This record gives sequence, C-alpha cells and structure tokens, in this order.
Amino acid sequence: MADPSVVLSERFAGALASLDETLRGADPVVRRSDRADYQVNGSMALAKKTGRPPRDLAQEIVDRVELADIAHPPEIAGPGFINVTLQDAFLARALQETADDPALGVTPAAITETVVVDYSAPNVAKEMHVGHLRSSIIGDALVRVLEFVGHQVIRQNHLGDWGTPFGMLIEHLLSVGEAEAANELSVGDLGRFYQEARAEFDANPDFADRARRRVVALQAGDPQTLRLWKLLVDESSRYFTAVYGRLGVKLGPDDQAGESMYNPMLADTMAELERLGLLVESDGAQCVFPPGFTTREGNPLPLIVRKSDGGFGYDTTDLAAIRYRLRDLGATHVIYVVGAPQREHLEMIIETARLAGWLRPPARAEHVAFGSVLGADRKMFRTRAGGSIRLVDLLDEAVERARQIVADRTSLSPDEAVTVSEAVGIGAVKYADLSNDRVKDYAFDWDRMLDFQGNTGPYLQYAHTRVRSIFGQAAARGIDVSDVGPALEFAPAERRLALEILSFDGAVHATEESLAPHRLCTYLFELATAFTDFYESCPVLRADTDEQRRSRLFLADLTARVLAQGLDLLGIAAPERM
Ligand code: ARG
Repeated sequence: MADPSVVLSERFAGALASLDETLRGADPVVRRSDRADYQVNGSMALAKKTGRPPRDLAQEIVDRVELADIAHPPEIAGPGFINVTLQDAFLARALQETADDPALGVTPAAITETVVVDYSAPNVAKEMHVGHLRSSIIGDALVRVLEFVGHQVIRQNHLGDWGTPFGMLIEHLLSVGEAEAANELSVGDLGRFYQEARAEFDANPDFADRARRRVVALQAGDPQTLRLWKLLVDESSRYFTAVYGRLGVKLGPDDQAGESMYNPMLADTMAELERLGLLVESDGAQCVFPPGFTTREGNPLPLIVRKSDGGFGYDTTDLAAIRYRLRDLGATHVIYVVGAPQREHLEMIIETARLAGWLRPPARAEHVAFGSVLGADRKMFRTRAGGSIRLVDLLDEAVERARQIVADRTSLSPDEAVTVSEAVGIGAVKYADLSNDRVKDYAFDWDRMLDFQGNTGPYLQYAHTRVRSIFGQAAARGIDVSDVGPALEFAPAERRLALEILSFDGAVHATEESLAPHRLCTYLFELATAFTDFYESCPVLRADTDEQRRSRLFLADLTARVLAQGLDLLGIAAPERM
C-alpha cells in the first residue's frame, strides 16, 4: 500500500494529462490539510500555463479525476484549491494493508541501485571528533533508509590510514614501546598519542629526520615498517569499532576501505588520466584542472595527482576510490557524507570522474554535506580549556545525564535503568543531530536534547513506551488484544492519527530522495503528536464499544510499530519500557 497522498498524486496527474497535453507530467501538489484529509494546490500555478482561470481549471480537474473508489466527491475551495476526503472504508483497508505489511506500507524504490556510502572516515592514531560523530550518525541513518527501500548498500569507511604523518607516528610508537603504544591506542588515548608525536616532531630535528626516512620506508614497503604501521591501524580500528558499537552505527571491520587500500591502484589511475589527456604539469606536479574551479584570485584550481616529490596524496586516493567504486563495485550512486569544508575537494573529484568517463549517467555521485556543531555560545564546540571535544567523553556525559533523568522520572529496576539510560543518552545525542537540517550548523544543548517534551529523542522513545504500556495494562486487566482491526468509522483524532500512520511511506521516500534524515524526524514527531491528541480524546481500554476498542488498540499498535521502525531507521533504540 502506498501513501494515499501518492495515490492521489497519481490520480490527479492522470486527470491533468488527459485534460491538457501541456499539463502532462505536471505536479498536482497534494498536501495534508486541516480543511480536509488532503488538499490539491497545483491549480493556481498550472492555470497560468493553460491560460484558464484557476477555479475553472480546478472544476475541470474535479470533473475528470477518478476517485470514486477511494474518496468522497472532491470540493473546490477558495481561489481553486481542491479538498479531498477519503472514504472511511478506504482508510480502513489501507490501514489493514499497512498492518499486514512487514515494511509498514513503505513501498520499495522503483529502481534498486548499488549505492556506495562513504561515511565516518576517522583518521588512524588520531582522536575522533564531533565531525566524525556527525558523519557516522548521518551516514548510518542514510544507509538504513536506503537499505529499507531495497537498495544494495556498500558501506565504505574511508579511514585516514596513510600519508606523511605515519612517519612520525611510527617513530613515536618506537620511542613509547609497542606494548605501551598499543595500550594507549586501544583505549582511545589517541589524542595524546598524536600530540606527543607531533610535539616530538616539531622539537627534535633528529626525530623529524627519522620520521621522514620512515615515510620513505613505508612507501617502499619495508616489511618491518609495514608491521609497525599495521599495528597502529589495527589498534585504532579496534577502538573505532568499539565506538561504533556504542553508537549503534553499523560499521565493522568489513566496511573498512581505508586510504591505504588504494595504494596499488594509484599508478594505474594516474596512467589512465594521462592517457585521457587530463594530466597537466604544474610546478613539477601532475595535476588535473577540472573546469569551473578557481582560486580566490581566479586562477584554475588543481587536483594534485602526483606531487613534485613524486608522492601521491589525498586527492589521488579519492580519484582512485571513486573509480574503484564506480567501475569495480558497480555503484550507480556514490554518496560522500563529509563535512561542508570539503565541498570543493569532493566536487572536483566528482567532476574529474565525469571527465574521465568513470561517472556516466544515470550513475551519479554527490556530496552529502553537513555543518558544524557549535557550543551554547554559537562558537565552535570546544572543551572549557579550548581543546576539541572527544567523542567518547560526549557519549559518557550523555549517558550520565540520562541516568539521572531516568532515575528521577521512572521506576525501573536498576538493570533496566542501565540499558534505558544508555538508549536515552545516546539516542538524545543522535536525534539532536539528525533532526537538524544537516547542512546547517547546530548548537549542542544538553538540556534541550534530553528534554522529554518537544522534538527530541527522549520524547519519541517515551511516546513509544507509552503506546506499548497500553498493552501491558490490557494484559493486566485480562483484555484480549490478539484480535484487533480498524473500525469502519473514524473520529477526527483517530482519523488524523490514521493519516499520519499512512504517511510513513511518503516520509521515508522523501528522506531517501533528499538524503535528509530530519525529514524522517519531523514525521515521527508529528506521528507522536497525533498519537498524544488521539490518546487524550479517545479512551482506548475504556472505549464505549468492543468495536471501538478493537480499532483503537489496532491504531495504537500500528503507531508503536511505525515509531519503533522509524527510530530504527535513524539508528535509535526504542526501549519497551521507560
Ligand atoms: N579522513 C577524512 C577526515 O577526517 C575524511 C574522509 C572523507 N572521505 C573521503 N573519501 N575523502 O577529514
């Protein structure tokens, strides 16, 4: 069962096409409305195209549209809006189909694609910061949504595991001692490890010299150096995997496709660019100048394929990566979930892939950018001492704050309180991130994100448990809940809730198309709000008739299922009790 607004859009689009050839493919603009179930708002804009007065056009549309099987005769309002009210029998049928569907009415994507999602991508032996938090959370929600509508998703964690810093990191590893270094890295003391290496490099010319020679040995494949490098990578990965586990992010060792993976492909990638005539020498470096990218002074901006010292860098790796994803992994859609500051770099990579013929329509690649996390003062989010905030410290604090709230507000057993605090704390951080339009910056605000009121994670988790608790009460009172189903008539609050439930399909697809998880958040918040209104005005267990109770239990159960499924698509746990 598709979202009724989708069905209405199709029917109205059909009417438009049959009415006037110029209106073929036009969007009738179907929206939910307070006046009726749905309002069709397109007549005004389309009237101009056909030269008809809007109300006349609306009348012609109404005369032609075929809705007899699903809705009451449409009404024209105002300057040419068309109000549509569904028949209760249709509503009941749609709800029953949704309940019988494991996907809760979400239709599979029309074309299933192989989608590569590049996300998280922290750097080895370096602390994960809030930017990696955003990439991990947003990327993971997108992966879940894409998979849910049937795409084949290949997760790629483009770890920063190669490059010049590894000379100094390996030398530092040797001065600290392997065992101690492994210990620091696996427990997540990455910040200290990196900073000490950096300090030593800056202060000690001898060390800096060794570090430089170490880079050469690493690139030459010296076995001892590679072994030490691998130790750094493995210990850091162990730590990253632990963070993903805690965050509920579906990234494991199998999804790791770090920069080093592309080493064997770099020479070939460069040779191909050379053959295609895309390489230009500039100050001793081999570059690609994709048209349309310039420096502030208006000079063409290069991607550096090979540096003047003969080395390959970040640009080359990303070129090899996009080629591999399109050509070898067979992706038709490549998504980079990376902070906004890398916009130009990624656009240049994508443009070069086009020039090289690796990226050909219908295949596409896009940068799914996100803004910064700000502190309450609207400046970059930092510790009091001015340092960048460690991701794990943030999660610990979230769970600790949630623990206090859960202890104050609920009467859970100590064991349950531990699990629920973890779910609420982590869920609050994730939801606060996902519910903001990703391209904008947002201010990190503990009190707001942990509030049980408003568009927050805890509110939705709580709403879910509240619905579930109805079934606990029913069991306690010996009320049979096994045989539930929609009534043939709906009170206004029931109707609003029903229409929200049926909008899940549209919300998931809107999220998929825009790659904007906040669309799904807004939807879930509206669903929870509709449930609250319903619950206030429609007694469930104390309903007047059996039929009404069966129907309200049915709506409640379906609401809980959609909430839990929606939260799961965001990567947020939905505890059964709170
Ligand atoms: N490791 C990089 C960073 O921390 C992000 C990599 C993003 N992905 C990519 N294909 N360039 O900034």
